[in-house]
Amino acid sequence: MNTIKKQSERFKNIRNYSEEICKPLETEDYVVQSDMFASPPKWNLGHTSWFFETFILANYDSEYKLYNERFPFLFNSYYNNAGDRVKRHKRGDLSRPTVKEVYAYRKYVDDAMLSFIEKGGKAGDNSWKALLELGLQHEQQHQELFWTDLKHTFFQNPLLPKYAKHLPFEEETLAEEEMKFIALKEGIYQIGHSGDGFAYDNELGHHKVYLHDFQIADRLVTNTEYLEFIEDGGYSDFNLWHDEAWAWLNENKMTAPLYWLKNDGEWMNYSLTGLKTIEPNTLLKHISYYEAFAFAQWKGVRLPTEFEWEAAQQEFKWGQRWEHTNSAYLPYPGFQKAAGAVGEYNGKFMVNQMVLRGASVATSPGHQRFTYRNFFHPWERWQYSGIRLAK
Ligand SMILES: [Fe+2]
Repeated sequence: MNTIKKQSERFKNIRNYSEEICKPLETEDYVVQSDMFASPPKWNLGHTSWFFETFILANYDSEYKLYNERFPFLFNSYYNNAGDRVKRHKRGDLSRPTVKEVYAYRKYVDDAMLSFIEKGGKAGDNSWKALLELGLQHEQQHQELFWTDLKHTFFQNPLLPKYAKHLPFEEETLAEEEMKFIALKEGIYQIGHSGDGFAYDNELGHHKVYLHDFQIADRLVTNTEYLEFIEDGGYSDFNLWHDEAWAWLNENKMTAPLYWLKNDGEWMNYSLTGLKTIEPNTLLKHISYYEAFAFAQWKGVRLPTEFEWEAAQQEFKWGQRWEHTNSAYLPYPGFQKAAGAVGEYNGKFMVNQMVLRGASVATSPGHQRFTYRNFFHPWERWQYSGIRLAK
């Protein structure tokens, strides 16, 4: 396949998948926003289209006309360089444009993108190609957010709706046997992205780190293991928690992971396929950094740093849950922000957040990399996040 054909096929496949996963939704499901961090499906569909329109079509295609002059205001997320926008918590207040019109907007952007790609882009300037890849990676990130945001929204509904009978991925993952620890030797390890292939700017700056002897678990923590922590009074022992975690726990009356409910003395778990009894030996999910840290304290061990995780990743299976690390989200040596709006993609979030490594079952196919650095605030737990222990 020639490059142009490959580019347009990849573009179509990834764009189609976003629509594919919306298929079981009813029109009303597209609009609701349950919290500031969770965007409605309609907004996700518009925003990912806006990304291609703003960063490629409007900049590189002289024939391109905006679908609607007002849409950038609706679908810009956090790019100050790209202008004013609807407040984040107001994304669910928009009954217009209708779902139908947002699909028409997508089609308009797709048609323009495909003819732009098929004519070979802009003559004498190849810089759009990196933005095309960034736009596709961005779309895949929003596909994972589609699942996590929809789950959060459905969970707020007293009817606890189901997405469908089956998901394209398994939410419940059975743990393999007993947890064992893998030992790694002290020494110098290479960290960060190198070579060809896509990486976000926050993974660049390939560098060496010195690690001391450490051990890391060969699998993630299960529901059973976490239940022992709950039953042992883990949520009421302040000695296990950070100061701000203890305040968070008390203020929000936290007693269990997100989506756990106690029904007649029995723990239940809400998933996109409905409310079910907790499966004992399946991998724990929807856990905050605060909880992951407290659990490790209770176990008498700790969380790995992101460097230990990366140094050891060939030794264990990953990709089922985003794995909490004990590393603050900071720039690697030599980190450079791109000029303009795309420079806002990662760099400006490098304060007060923690790094999660790996990928989750909800991560789109082809979006997993061992150098990937995801990041969230320490209290956030609506992602498919879990715990790997280290010592
Ligand atoms: Fe985005």
